[in-house]
Amino acid sequence: MPEIDLAGWAAAIPPAALERARAEGPLARETAETPEDRDARLALGRAAGARRWRERLAETHAAYAGVTWDALDAQQRPDDLRRWVEDPDALTLFVVGYVGVGKTHAAVAVGAEFAARGARVAIWSWRDWIAAVDWRREHAAVEAAVHDATTADLLILDDLGVGFRGEPFPEWVATKTETLVDARVRCARRTVITTNLGGDQLAVAFDDRTLSRLSERRSVVAVTGPDRRGPR
Ligand SMILES: Nc1ncnc2c1ncn2[C@@H]1O[C@H](COP(=O)(O)OP(=O)(O)O)[C@@H](O)[C@H]1O
Ligand SMILES: [Mg+2]
Repeated sequence: MPEIDLAGWAAAIPPAALERARAEGPLARETAETPEDRDARLALGRAAGARRWRERLAETHAAYAGVTWDALDAQQRPDDLRRWVEDPDALTLFVVGYVGVGKTHAAVAVGAEFAARGARVAIWSWRDWIAAVDWRREHAAVEAAVHDATTADLLILDDLGVGFRGEPFPEWVATKTETLVDARVRCARRTVITTNLGGDQLAVAFDDRTLSRLSERRSVVAVTGPDRRGPR
């Protein structure tokens, strides 16, 4: 009975998903799984990932339902995004650019790619997540939002720092952001962050500690072009 062959897809799989797949090795032997069974199980895992992702998008980002890799155009730097997806040492990806250039769309395409490989992908508008973890909300609801964003194999944190008006965000906002990013970095969980703030603005908006966490093994992809939502 051959071991599960991870060679082909291991590179791009988030560590948590890889661990799960590895843990399945002995079990697969015990139950005398055939190669056909194994292929079917892996295919089911991928199908489940893709279905979870569709449902997730429908909840909060329905406008981006059906976005796939093929829909990206050259200004969304698909080759750079692909390199990040396939780089097992990459940790945090910043997709930067002006409003409406297609950052969220590009991040969603990355999410679809991970989901299609069986990863659990979470997508949160940063502002929604901050609102969701506000200490005035019910404890269980806050815990659920923290857990979801912290433990997903891939987190898309969309529009980091939206609402920045030249002043630092309140300390608790920076702290919540830093705690989330810190927890993910510690477990080598990968995160895609979109923002239209430049580095200088992020430095004002957040504190040094947050910025330092965000910078760990960071890659940047700049999306250019006109505001796609504006008049042509
Ligand atoms: N490659 C693309 N093909 C078609 N529509 C796109 C593409 N990229 C972005 N869009 C659309 O353009 C609009 C702006 O893109 P979005 O990703 O929301 O921009 P940003 O996040 O940079 O503000 C959205 O309606 C999005 O669906
Ligand atoms: Mg956006």
